[in-house]
Amino acid sequence: MANVIVIGAQWGDEGKGKITDLLSRSADVVVRYQGGVNAGHTIVVKGQTFKLHLIPSGILYPNTDCIIGCGTVIDPQILIAELDQLKELNISTDHLLISETAHVTMPYHRLIDQASEERRGSHKIGTTGRGIGPTYADKSERIGIRVLDLMDPDGLREQLEWTINYKNVILEKLYNLPPLDPGEVIEQYLGYAERLRPHVVDTSLKISDAIVRRRNILFEGAQGTLLDLDHGTYPYVTSSNPVAGGACVGTGVGPTMIDRVIGVSKAYTTRVGEGPFPTELHGELGELLCDRGAEFGTTTGRKRRCGWFDAVIGRYAVRINGMDCMALTKLDVLDELESIQVCVAYEIDGDRSEHFPTSSRKFARCRPIYKTLPGWQVSTTDCRTLEELPQQALDYLKFLAELMEVPIAIVSLGASRDQTIIVEDPIHGPKRALLHPDGTPATLLSA
Ligand code: IMP
Repeated sequence: MANVIVIGAQWGDEGKGKITDLLSRSADVVVRYQGGVNAGHTIVVKGQTFKLHLIPSGILYPNTDCIIGCGTVIDPQILIAELDQLKELNISTDHLLISETAHVTMPYHRLIDQASEERRGSHKIGTTGRGIGPTYADKSERIGIRVLDLMDPDGLREQLEWTINYKNVILEKLYNLPPLDPGEVIEQYLGYAERLRPHVVDTSLKISDAIVRRRNILFEGAQGTLLDLDHGTYPYVTSSNPVAGGACVGTGVGPTMIDRVIGVSKAYTTRVGEGPFPTELHGELGELLCDRGAEFGTTTGRKRRCGWFDAVIGRYAVRINGMDCMALTKLDVLDELESIQVCVAYEIDGDRSEHFPTSSRKFARCRPIYKTLPGWQVSTTDCRTLEELPQQALDYLKFLAELMEVPIAIVSLGASRDQTIIVEDPIHGPKRALLHPDGTPATLLSA
């Protein structure tokens, strides 16, 4: 039995979908613990490609329970559209469970998200415009609508009458937008409620039961460490906690129940939206990574900003998540390059630092200090073992593992399931060890 958390170690889009899909095969339960329809993963079923935003990709395995935990925010309209898509493909969704206490994204959240971004002008966050921030803001302000509220028509009517009238003041007076009709919204959401009702349960109880029965649970993070509300590049972050710690709060599971944390990182770095990005590449090289890596967002279609691997961020993600091992994705995107740079430290106001700064203003002043490594300039997409990799690619992996002091357990070399090297069993293999008693780092990449 193992309860495993999979998190993104950068700014999201690290390829968690492929890694969770790989690990889902041995999971009995897959749980999403934060975020909402700002996330997205593409899945291919019977030759058809489609996008899921809320439902975990584990839904494709009929014997795996899929849970959307209390730390998520749920847009019922999009969730129902996902259920419909799956139904059309004859994929059962009976094993999807939705937390009663997750918060619900309402039409005013989406409107306020988009209008406030516009109002921010040059200070905008670059959100997905899906109403995520305002939904979490209402949760904190204690005026949110929870899934269990949707299930109680009389209570919902009373609650929404008040909330929509309150939000209308903001829409009209602050943003010059037309008001919402409370009656219309209430009827629409009561309709959604009936469709979702069969899936709604106390998911914390279900997860606890699964733990007691020693079933394998995979906690799937959305977004990434640097987008974490508390530990990311604030204010250019999302409004939830994608870090491993978020899995406990966002599902109602105690930390002692977690066996392992696996971080997912690309072999280079990408970021969508605004905010500092020290290793960003402008010009030809950035374009090359974007083209080769097909770096366009699943949710908004926006082009991702691309840059070199940043080991300062990598080390930070290892620490903040208590990462045991790492999955490194998209190594093949670097195949053509003559040389590759890795950021090993920052220069901040004339001083060298190996640590991620807590201030975003300071972060914006960080200049990367690079180490240049030779490229391999041959295709790695057909490699299935470390031995088949060109020596330079192997050296690159070892260098990253040593810099971040974490073993690389999985290397991904393409989108398909088989384009993967399993270096160590990520769940039962060696964990990240602290320094040996003599102060030397533990073994990082077995080769
Ligand atoms: P929000 O989550 O829509 O509020 O957006 C806040 C920030 O997080 C923006 O910079 C978004 O581009 C970024 N973001 C949100 N979700 C994702 C994701 O799934 N991948 C990458 N970036 C994301």
